[in-house]
Amino acid sequence: ILTTETAAIRQRLLVVANRLPVSATRKGEASWQLEMSVGGLVSALLGITDFDTKWIGWAGVNVPDEIGQKSLTEALAEKRCIPVFLDEDLVNLYYNGYCNNILWPLFHYLGLPQEDRLATTRSFQSQFDAYKKANQMFADVVNEHYTERDVIWCHDYHLMFLPKCLKEHNNKMKVGWFLHTPFPSSEIHRTLPSRSELLKAVLVADLVGFHTYDYARHFVSACTRILGLEGTPDGVEDQGRLTRVAAFPIGIDPGRFIRAIQLPQIKNHIMELKERFAGRKVMLGVDRLDMIKGIPQKILAFEKFLEENPDWHDKVVLLQIAVPTRTDVPDSLIAFFPSLLLFLTDQKLTCQVHEIVGRINGRFGSLTTVPIHHLDRSLDFHGLCALYAITDVALITSLRDGMNLVSYEFVACQASKKGVLILSEFAGAAQSLGAGAILVNPWNITEVASSIAYALNMPAEEREKRHHNNFMHVTTHTSQEWAETFVSELNDTIVEAQLRIRQ
Ligand code: G6P
Repeated sequence: ILTTETAAIRQRLLVVANRLPVSATRKGEASWQLEMSVGGLVSALLGITDFDTKWIGWAGVNVPDEIGQKSLTEALAEKRCIPVFLDEDLVNLYYNGYCNNILWPLFHYLGLPQEDRLATTRSFQSQFDAYKKANQMFADVVNEHYTERDVIWCHDYHLMFLPKCLKEHNNKMKVGWFLHTPFPSSEIHRTLPSRSELLKAVLVADLVGFHTYDYARHFVSACTRILGLEGTPDGVEDQGRLTRVAAFPIGIDPGRFIRAIQLPQIKNHIMELKERFAGRKVMLGVDRLDMIKGIPQKILAFEKFLEENPDWHDKVVLLQIAVPTRTDVPDSLIAFFPSLLLFLTDQKLTCQVHEIVGRINGRFGSLTTVPIHHLDRSLDFHGLCALYAITDVALITSLRDGMNLVSYEFVACQASKKGVLILSEFAGAAQSLGAGAILVNPWNITEVASSIAYALNMPAEEREKRHHNNFMHVTTHTSQEWAETFVSELNDTIVEAQLRIRQ
């Protein structure tokens, strides 16, 4: 427990992210239900306890009235959260539009949406304008709460304009920006109509962080090739001012998982699940339902494995949890905002996955068992930990993924089972868990199928060795350490910059 004294010397940290760690649902005029948000960013940042942290972000809900805004602000204050209120139109253009229909697919190598490229320049521009406007609104809330002791940490692709908005208001602010997605090759980034403006806005930050060296290198290349600036081993230089650019691989709070699986009620749940799947090896996939997660390709690889390995037909089960997110767009809006076609794509993805799962279960199932259990919903934390703990092989085959913390969570829950992790080489985690996981190209269905066979037949000794490597990494490279490293580097960068100016 922290004493007031220790709390007083903790560094004050303003974490600014699009989504707060809690999402709000309105229960009455002035009453709110708060629930944990899902996603890698939230899961990592929850592990940070060493700072005197306040969160600033969108509560994921439209609150047009004053009573609602006041009561939600009060409810969130208890969680050290400060809301940014965005109206519905802005959310559509900024969050659904520019963030999730343009930047998200582009940064994951899926390219720009065709309809924006061909016909709707206006729509592109209005989404970009809304993006800048929303970023300014986040900045306004930061300005309201900022004190001189604060360090400001901006997160993710939603807020690439924020460093610029903040420093324009107060150049003395200490501002770091961190990207939770991949930063793509500069050849991909240069297709974006607003490519230069975005890069310049990020470069205003004192420190710019990415999950991997590759992403950092891509960013520096984009700045040199597109903006003509100078890339140095430390970052990007513009007229004598250095923006430090570096890799800070994120982690989880492993203790939270390790402790959870020791709880009596979870141990009971683990026993029940073991009985339920007795005699079968359990394979597990946990992904947000998103194009980038490669769910259809994964299931097709599992089908190929079943085709080629008839002996395994009733001895293995794949549990695929597809967590729905970003689904709150009414159909009527899609007619007005072609950019929202992304959500049609997500609906198509769900149908496609259901069709493949149905076919495979029809082909390989029996009256009593099916090879795939597919759920279109999330599980609560304890349910998820129990599933991780009984899993023999985790199958994480994202087509692209910034880091992928599901792989870390799985490893943290495997102390007794020592199961195998099959991991996409296009997830950032491949660079940290490469020594323990079986790395695969998710597009190569034959390779994934044979990796499944390899994992299921892996001798105990090799499993233990691989697990040990992964477990050591996950338990030493924690979210706590990630945050401390980033913030102390941000402090150092600012001190160095001041020294450079004095010299
Ligand atoms: C990814 C992004 C996060 C985002 C999360 C959930 O992990 O990098 O910034 O919060 O997905 O997505 P959502 O759009 O529901 O916040």
